[in-house]
Amino acid sequence: MKTRKINLKLWASLALVSVFFSCKKTETTTSKTGLIAEKAMVVSARQEASAIGLEIIQKGGNAFDAMMATEMALAVTYPFAGNLGGGGFAVYRLADGSVGSIDYREKAPLAAEKNMYLDENGNVIPGLSTKGALASGVPGTIAGIFKAQEKFGKLSPEEILQPVIELAQKGFVITERQAERLQRLRETFIEVNGEETFFAQEIKAGDTLKIPVLAQTLERIAKNGRDEFYKGETAKIMAAHMQKIGGIITEEDLASYDAVWRDPIVFDYKDLKIISMSPPSSGGITIGQIFKMIEPFDLKGYGHHSPEHIQILAEAERRAYADRNYYLGDPDFVKIPVADLLDSDYLRSRMENFSFEKATKSEDIAKGEIAFSESMETTHYSIVDADGNAISITTTLNGGYGSKVFIDELGFFMNNEMDDFSSKPGEPNMFGLVGAEANSIAPGKRMLSSMTPTLVEKEGKLWMVVGTPGGSTIITSVVQTILNVHEFGMSMQEAVEAARFHHQWLPDLVSFEPDSFDSTLIENLKAKGYIILENNNPIIGKVDAILVLPDGKLEGGADPRGDDAAVGF
Ligand code: DON
Repeated sequence: MKTRKINLKLWASLALVSVFFSCKKTETTTSKTGLIAEKAMVVSARQEASAIGLEIIQKGGNAFDAMMATEMALAVTYPFAGNLGGGGFAVYRLADGSVGSIDYREKAPLAAEKNMYLDENGNVIPGLSTKGALASGVPGTIAGIFKAQEKFGKLSPEEILQPVIELAQKGFVITERQAERLQRLRETFIEVNGEETFFAQEIKAGDTLKIPVLAQTLERIAKNGRDEFYKGETAKIMAAHMQKIGGIITEEDLASYDAVWRDPIVFDYKDLKIISMSPPSSGGITIGQIFKMIEPFDLKGYGHHSPEHIQILAEAERRAYADRNYYLGDPDFVKIPVADLLDSDYLRSRMENFSFEKATKSEDIAKGEIAFSESMETTHYSIVDADGNAISITTTLNGGYGSKVFIDELGFFMNNEMDDFSSKPGEPNMFGLVGAEANSIAPGKRMLSSMTPTLVEKEGKLWMVVGTPGGSTIITSVVQTILNVHEFGMSMQEAVEAARFHHQWLPDLVSFEPDSFDSTLIENLKAKGYIILENNNPIIGKVDAILVLPDGKLEGGADPRGDDAAVGF
């Protein structure tokens, strides 16, 4: 009964993910490369946002200036995930080889409580953490982009935000995918925000959409800096609005928010050095565990999408997600045994009970025993600038258009990131992820994320900038993209386009992208005891990446699963 319940939840959550990326994927049959550029490149979910980021670099800005411009241009043109009302993570590598990361993840409001999404019987109240006023955490995006730009950028925020403000004033063209989503969610926007709300209007593909009120908010932020959002007029309007509609975010929550510099997770895989996000994202540790578990196997010898390739990866994923869900949370609140979780001997021992003959059952895999004392719809963009600095950034409202709360006086959506907490231990969230105490709700705590903005070095030089949206599938999509180039010799564009598969421990299922894997392979895996998600298969991830080629040129990989675009010079 329990398994059935979880399966249904996963079906629902995967259907949701598939709606996020509701496009037919183009399968690559011939070898192809993405856009090639000499010096600098931005790859993001929208052509306009990539172009504005690149324009800032052409004006003498660097990757951190381009980050501010691209992030805000996504908030204008891609409000599905681009945001002011959400949060994210960025991992950077400067031209001199030094690396770092910034955490601008949302935080639980100060009035949040551990059991705030449970009814009097201790059951999760459906929808409370995903839709409406109570679903939002305190937004981090403006704090993050200003902190990063202030430390490393070269231009002024006014200069950087000017083209974004113009974009919001003059408008941008609605794509087919956008129109479909906006039409599908129109009734929900009205239900949450009333008949007069901005997105109550009928919006069709090809329309030019202007968001003048967002232009005004951005003008105030450009003039007054990040404090406009956290302590100024914008903060007052936001807090008043959230309280008016039954939320708990206050001016105090906003005033006390700050983004945090974190040491990234750094590990080796064969001749690659991989640099990725640390907690409160699970991304870096979980890809680290997966890469270390698969390292002893000859994936290249088995071949791309051979049963062995899929088995090795699915089994490593199963084991890594079991640890993820138990041990990981906000490092400011829980002690995380990072070194133990990434220890090579420990990870080798985790794979000792793996056999090519038969699937391991997730019920036989618990978290690994680690001796440590306890005190216990997203978007990714990749940038390389003309100076050789690189940033990998993933940012989100969580679900598409977040909580669906649109603050009409400010022109942006609020996140529903509170759903990334574990509302109740053992109960799956919208991505089917089952959490534990480490990720329980507490005032001021950051919810665990799967976002995995990642940089890869080869022979001491920048080699790849990579990341993706996709909830729980982010982690496995990033791993597969890196392997597609490193083990299977694909170009960046081919690696991004290649079909993907996913396992996340619970529920005990392997999912495959639609129409991309042959039935003999699926039958082979079923015969070994793998449970395959066969209906309602989702699109997995939407990767935007940059590869540094041997001659130093850059190759973009923009995912055709969305409207994504690479631009460069
Ligand atoms: O932080 C996380 O892991 C999620 N909030 C990411 C959400 C996401 O990727 C939605 N897009 N499909």
